[in-house]
Amino acid sequence: MRNTENPFKFGTIVDEEYFTDRVKEVAFISQFVNSANHLVLISPRRFGKSSLVAKAIRHTGRRHITVNLQQATSVSDLSAKLLREFFKVHPLERVRHLITHFRIIPTISTNAITGSMDVAFQPGVDGSVILEDVMSLIEKAHTEQERLIVVLDEFQDILDLAPKLDKKLRSIMQEQKHVNYILLGSQESMMTDIFENKKSPFYHFGEMMRLGKLPREEFFCYLSERLKGCFPETSELLANQILDYTACHPYYSQQLAANIWQIGVLQPDTADPMRAAINNIVTTHSLDYERLWMNFKRTNKWIMQRLSSRKPLQSGEYRTSTIYSALKRLQKDGYVIYSDRYEMEDPFFCEWIVTNNG
Ligand SMILES: Nc1ncnc2c1ncn2[C@@H]1O[C@H](COP(=O)(O)OP(=O)(O)OP(=O)(O)O)[C@@H](O)[C@H]1O
Ligand SMILES: [Mg+2]
Repeated sequence: MRNTENPFKFGTIVDEEYFTDRVKEVAFISQFVNSANHLVLISPRRFGKSSLVAKAIRHTGRRHITVNLQQATSVSDLSAKLLREFFKVHPLERVRHLITHFRIIPTISTNAITGSMDVAFQPGVDGSVILEDVMSLIEKAHTEQERLIVVLDEFQDILDLAPKLDKKLRSIMQEQKHVNYILLGSQESMMTDIFENKKSPFYHFGEMMRLGKLPREEFFCYLSERLKGCFPETSELLANQILDYTACHPYYSQQLAANIWQIGVLQPDTADPMRAAINNIVTTHSLDYERLWMNFKRTNKWIMQRLSSRKPLQSGEYRTSTIYSALKRLQKDGYVIYSDRYEMEDPFFCEWIVTNNG
């Protein structure tokens, strides 16, 4: 009997058999954190930043903690999350003496279900004092020979957490010598502003690394090898079709491949599994697409229609400056990405646009 377990995975951090290539990047990051410098990693959404960094730091075998700024609701919540992660690498008993120096003492309890530590600060207390104390604890628990790797994911959200938090954080980090920071972000323009604007506290904070899509050849081998189990005759053709359709986008390629696989298992007689899978995905999301579409301004709709049907934007319909600023906004909001040209981020939204508004 055929092995029916889906060999593709999308939406979460991928590892081991679901993670392909990025060999150079893994080597670079694991090597880079051996220096006293910090790293800033930028890419559009769902290109594989979190998966890559998780893999690279596991490679180093070093102690590390990760906090996603998008999940923090306030500065004290961010501090509590950092502390909770910290307790995963340093058992409380060994660092209790350092916590007695905290100006605001956290409530620490053991979660009966997960067994991990829960950390909370009283509501209304000064978040920046707590953050200072937590960061100072991290510094004290490490040495220059044994630095901690701290990953702050969705770092661009720092600007939403509290006014001037970027300045505060930068001044704390400046004093630290026992931490390697890896800061990840997916909103390119905001990240660029944080790290390349001379007026920003994080100006030239660390090495900037931009992550591109997966290289076609490696991704092709990955997809066709796995598709073989279900499509022994056509796996290479399908892998090529997938990559043409998604332009090698890591997430959408895995999503499409997973869908094709499922069709191969559940409806093996389907004449064109690629088309059937695309239709499935577009239909599943069509309500969301419709709702999104209704709220776009006319210029944005026009630009996305042109990009979706691969027509040139310089047609005389709008001024170049209008097109350019609309493109920048669409890029900031994640609907459009720029690699070697401007393109729609989501190939399925693109399909929906061509079908319904082309
Ligand atoms: N190296 C890889 N090999 C195969 N698939 C990958 C790889 N990297 C990413 N993917 C695909 O992309 C998806 C998103 O990966 P990940 O969450 O790491 O990206 P991200 O850039 O951190 O996304 P987000 O912007 O949502 O934080 C994964 O679930 C997987 O399907
Ligand atoms: Mg991520």
